[in-house]
Amino acid sequence: MRRNIMIFRALVLALLCTGCRAALVSAQCNSTQLDGAAIEPCSLKISDITTTADPTVITKALPSLSTVTGWNQGQANALIQSITSAGFQINSSSSLVSLGTLVGGVPSATIKNIPPNEILTASQNPTFLTNILSAPAILQSSVVLKIISVDKTNVVQNVPDALAAYVPPVLLTNLKSVDVTLINKKSWSQQQAAVLFEAVSRVAADPEELSESLLQGFSCSSVKDLSLQKIRQLVKACRPRSGRNKVVLNEPQLICMYNYVKNDSTLSYTDLPPEVLLYYSYDKVPKENCRSYFSALGSADFSVLSSVLNKQSVLFSNAQNCLGISGTSLNRDQVGVLGNMICTLNPSYIQNSDPLILEKLKNCGDLSDTQVTAIQTLLFSGNTQYGNPTEWNLKTLEQLEVLPLYLKKDFWDKFSSSVREIYLKSFIPFLRKRKTHKWKMSRLSGASTVSRFRRSADCTVGTITAIKIAEEWFPFDYDSTQFDMCLDVTVLNDNLAAVTEKVVDESFQMIILNKLNLLYPSGLPESVVQLLGSTSRVANVSDISKWNITTIDTLSSLMNPDDGDWTSDQSKAVIMEYLSVEGNTLGTVEINVISSNLCSLDVSILKTITADNLQNANILDISSCSTDRKSALYSIANSSFSSQRSDPTMFILLISPYLGGAPVEDIRALSTQNISMDISTFLSLNPAVIMVRSRKRTESIFATIQSEKAKMEKKTSFLKTSGFLWTGPKS
Ligand SMILES: *[C@@H]1O[C@H](CO)[C@@H](O)[C@H](O)[C@H]1NC(C)=O
Ligand SMILES: *[C@@H]1O[C@H](CO)[C@@H](O)[C@H](O)[C@H]1NC(C)=O
Ligand SMILES: *[C@@H]1O[C@H](CO)[C@@H](O)[C@H](O)[C@H]1NC(C)=O
Ligand SMILES: *[C@@H]1O[C@H](CO)[C@@H](O)[C@H](O)[C@H]1NC(C)=O
Ligand SMILES: *[C@@H]1O[C@H](CO)[C@@H](O)[C@H](O)[C@H]1NC(C)=O
Ligand SMILES: *[C@@H]1O[C@H](CO)[C@@H](O)[C@H](O)[C@H]1NC(C)=O
Ligand SMILES: *[C@@H]1O[C@H](CO)[C@@H](O)[C@H](O)[C@H]1NC(C)=O
Repeated sequence: MRRNIMIFRALVLALLCTGCRAALVSAQCNSTQLDGAAIEPCSLKISDITTTADPTVITKALPSLSTVTGWNQGQANALIQSITSAGFQINSSSSLVSLGTLVGGVPSATIKNIPPNEILTASQNPTFLTNILSAPAILQSSVVLKIISVDKTNVVQNVPDALAAYVPPVLLTNLKSVDVTLINKKSWSQQQAAVLFEAVSRVAADPEELSESLLQGFSCSSVKDLSLQKIRQLVKACRPRSGRNKVVLNEPQLICMYNYVKNDSTLSYTDLPPEVLLYYSYDKVPKENCRSYFSALGSADFSVLSSVLNKQSVLFSNAQNCLGISGTSLNRDQVGVLGNMICTLNPSYIQNSDPLILEKLKNCGDLSDTQVTAIQTLLFSGNTQYGNPTEWNLKTLEQLEVLPLYLKKDFWDKFSSSVREIYLKSFIPFLRKRKTHKWKMSRLSGASTVSRFRRSADCTVGTITAIKIAEEWFPFDYDSTQFDMCLDVTVLNDNLAAVTEKVVDESFQMIILNKLNLLYPSGLPESVVQLLGSTSRVANVSDISKWNITTIDTLSSLMNPDDGDWTSDQSKAVIMEYLSVEGNTLGTVEINVISSNLCSLDVSILKTITADNLQNANILDISSCSTDRKSALYSIANSSFSSQRSDPTMFILLISPYLGGAPVEDIRALSTQNISMDISTFLSLNPAVIMVRSRKRTESIFATIQSEKAKMEKKTSFLKTSGFLWTGPKS
């Protein structure tokens, strides 16, 4: 009994220290009151929960534990396991709600066994909703599938706004009624918005009121029956507006928009999404207005441009013409007007131009290696607002904003290790908050690591403890040798999720995996595999073959795209490991979780997907699949969406992603319908299919030929003789 109280105190204390903070105000004890000094503070170790603590004690502590925020996946999983083993039933709305912040540790299989109405009731509880939003995606998706099963015709009403993205697009194709206000409040994915767009834009009285999430579904095929005026209003509604998020649009959408607005002289450049200007025909820009055109274009995201059209160089050469740019030295005014176009320029412009260029480069989504070198050359010259490198200090780093993320070792060498340390302590959390790509973080770690470590066979930087792991900039204060020396495998095992969330460097990940492999010589248990995060990517196929992957939760965790890409071999090994368990199949949930990694599976495995399961899945990107795999998936999708054939616009929308696997007869059959195919779909078609068509020179297949197409034809060999069409309005 006394032991249990001690453990409970340890838990409470641990929570207070872990930064789990204020929530436990009711804690009976604090660090000074706690008698036994033997308990290591500041971590709720998984071993405390799984081995030592009496589950009934943890269950008693549930009211406190459930209000604490900041659980990592390992802790949440272990606590839920502990309370369920003590007999706590997660079988109802009230039991789900009572789990509070621990809900993220509930296995999807548990959700599956709860009556749908109970889940629906829980989803109407604001606390549950807040908590489920920080739970793993697979759990959110399981909750939504349950809610949907209550009433498939009332999906828009029943699914909470913030979870709408998990609704299968196919369920949105035939809404009984279109309630714009309701639809507007939900966060839709681009695919869902595309499916909803036609119906919603038809009934919406004022396009200006449509949400950003809905407007991103604009497509040529869904607006083709609307009045030109309405279409223009819809395009205009996508412009940048204060207090609203950017409407993210892709190349086919933008080209389509351009074709609808190009004749309208009443629209000014700033009335449009700036990315539409990327596709403007320059002869339509009056010479005297070219400056205002480039100025508006300067706020566009140039990364939407595909390489097919080779627009970047054309745009810049027009800008040179308009702004009188000659040579590689841009003056302050020119830099100001060019804005984001700067991100596309070759490095010689960077090092020779007005230093204002550095401020513009801060807005670029990415910088090439040679651009970074040029930035450093400019900075090192000392002729910038950042002054002479010999006088650089902490403030300099701060003023450079995001740029240090890209800069190299010779830049970092200009700062003392103590300055770097202070700086990185706030810069790393800043980057993590911005969801910076892990490989960029890893590069930064390589460039900025303080090389103050002497070669040593001991841990000199400091033993890695739970407290250390909780520090914001961990493990940036270690190099890989010290990381290895200072990390005890028990500490690692007890804090695995906390460690793998933060470690981005491959050499560190190798160290983690090696230590775990030594701890579990016959293969990592599933509870460990589930917490590997990006560390999983350093495992080889023989490591993976020893893993237990039985649940969808583990599969989903491994397939998380935020943790980086798998090679085809690795991905296949992971998925086959899951499928080797009796009862596991490639169902709808699996398809969603696996997504493009399906391309790693053998055709015979893909053929086990049923039409029904594919129909209810999210729309897949199979562009990276081989031709035979595309064909297999197309065949299935062709049956999945056969009931949509009566509505050609909807059918093409749903089948498009699979058309790369369509045989020529099916493309021919589609071509007799009045539908338009966007350029990315067109390019995804099997080249053999295109060749056949072009030889036949069939007239007017998918829409009207636009001038863009003529330019495109020069770019891609198979388009040269093609009779295929560009998406766009009839002119
Ligand atoms: C711990 O509790 C005692 C008694 O309530 C109080 O005096 C002390 O300040 C507390 N210490 C901390 C660190 O909160
Ligand atoms: C949930 O489990 C508890 C305890 O076993 C039981 O009393 C209750 O009836 C169950 N509720 C539902 C909705 O099944
Ligand atoms: C894998 O799962 C099986 C069945 O659940 C179990 O018998 C086996 O011990 C597990 N292996 C490991 C390494 O966890
Ligand atoms: C896979 O990695 C392990 C260590 O993680 C190593 O021992 C083994 O030799 C590797 N196997 C292959 C086939 O590379
Ligand atoms: C696709 O479906 C259509 C209509 O049902 C059918 O005629 C065609 O043969 C199917 N194509 C494939 C490749 O299965
Ligand atoms: C296609 O559109 C044209 C002109 O708008 C119309 O005459 C024709 O009937 C349509 N064909 C089909 C199959 O809908
Ligand atoms: C744009 O103008 C051209 C030439 O005046 C005309 O042929 C075309 O139909 C117009 N397009 C639209 C979408 O208004």
